[in-house]
Amino acid sequence: AAPMVSRAVGVSSVRAFSGTPRAQNKVTVVGAAGGIGQPMSLLMKLSGKIDHLSLFDIVNTPGVAADIGHCNSKGKVMGYKGAEEMAASLDGSDVVVIPAGVPRKPGMTRDDLFNTNASIVKGIAEQCAKSCPKACFLIISNPVNSTVPIFAEVLKASGVYDPAKLMGVTTLDVARAKTFVAENQGMDVDRVEVDVIGGHAGTTIMPLLSQVKGATFTEEDIKALTHRIQFGGDEVVKAKDGAGSATLSMAHAGAYFAEKVLDGLNGVKGIKECTFVESPLTSAPFFASPCTLGTEGVSEIHGYGQLSPFEQALVDENVPALVKMAQKGIDFVKNN
Ligand code: NAI
Repeated sequence: AAPMVSRAVGVSSVRAFSGTPRAQNKVTVVGAAGGIGQPMSLLMKLSGKIDHLSLFDIVNTPGVAADIGHCNSKGKVMGYKGAEEMAASLDGSDVVVIPAGVPRKPGMTRDDLFNTNASIVKGIAEQCAKSCPKACFLIISNPVNSTVPIFAEVLKASGVYDPAKLMGVTTLDVARAKTFVAENQGMDVDRVEVDVIGGHAGTTIMPLLSQVKGATFTEEDIKALTHRIQFGGDEVVKAKDGAGSATLSMAHAGAYFAEKVLDGLNGVKGIKECTFVESPLTSAPFFASPCTLGTEGVSEIHGYGQLSPFEQALVDENVPALVKMAQKGIDFVKNN
């Protein structure tokens, strides 16, 4: 094993020295023609970091790919449509980002999407297990608290599960936390860091406001901000009035997170982002916390540090809900 280690170190230090990561990456977006998929694919194309952007959906991807492909930034774009083209779209992928499935309408919780999205995500996981078992899988489809466990169960059943490479995307919760905290504190949003732990639904979204550097919150601020971060998605669902949930801010958050995962794979050091992963931190099998992203996906799951009594109470209250939602996903795979 020793020569492997020194070789890996050598490679990454060369990349770090050159300052730009190797851009030989294939990223596939599954659900690429949707409200999130289209703008997220556009942002990824504009990043210039992706050599091969593969756009898969059951409808409309030839048009989306032709359109985005005309943007004069680096990387080729290919569109694949329908189940018969899915294997080709996934083949050789380093990262697969999955915003496939139905979004919420006013009055719905993310769990109300379970019946439709669980089978969509299960089907996608089955094809990924065959076509690109070594890729990093970034799950956006809701309910994330259950769809990530579903994906894990399918990969396990195929004998290809690598917990370091399966991540639920909670980046939008972090984006909302940064935005709302900066607004509340009159801080520069580019300098605000907020960790958001737990899950991605209602009160399972737990921002650690007590750890925000340079901020001073009143108790009222803490309560109001925490609630707004937890239910920020509902603001968008309500404002869109039946036309769906967050798509543009999610596209930004998803493209940002995918880029960080790619950077990690390509040897950039010190990348730390919150994401929902199989985790030993609590009794919930999956839990979001700050994670270091490295050449093999998640290389380290960090703890959440010292919590305020308010935050500790949130964690105590919400871990059982996370256990339940994960179990719902696991049972779904068992029974279908
Ligand atoms: P959308 O309905 O606009 O797009 C979904 C796309 O998925 C459609 O183009 C559809 O054709 C496609 N699709 C359906 N079944 C598929 C399959 N088997 N294979 C490939 N593609 C398939 O929905 P939108 O607004 O883009 O949302 C997508 C998902 O993302 C929803 O489940 C939503 O709840 C979730 N979401 C997650 C967030 C997060 O923070 N993790 C934030 C916002 C939304």
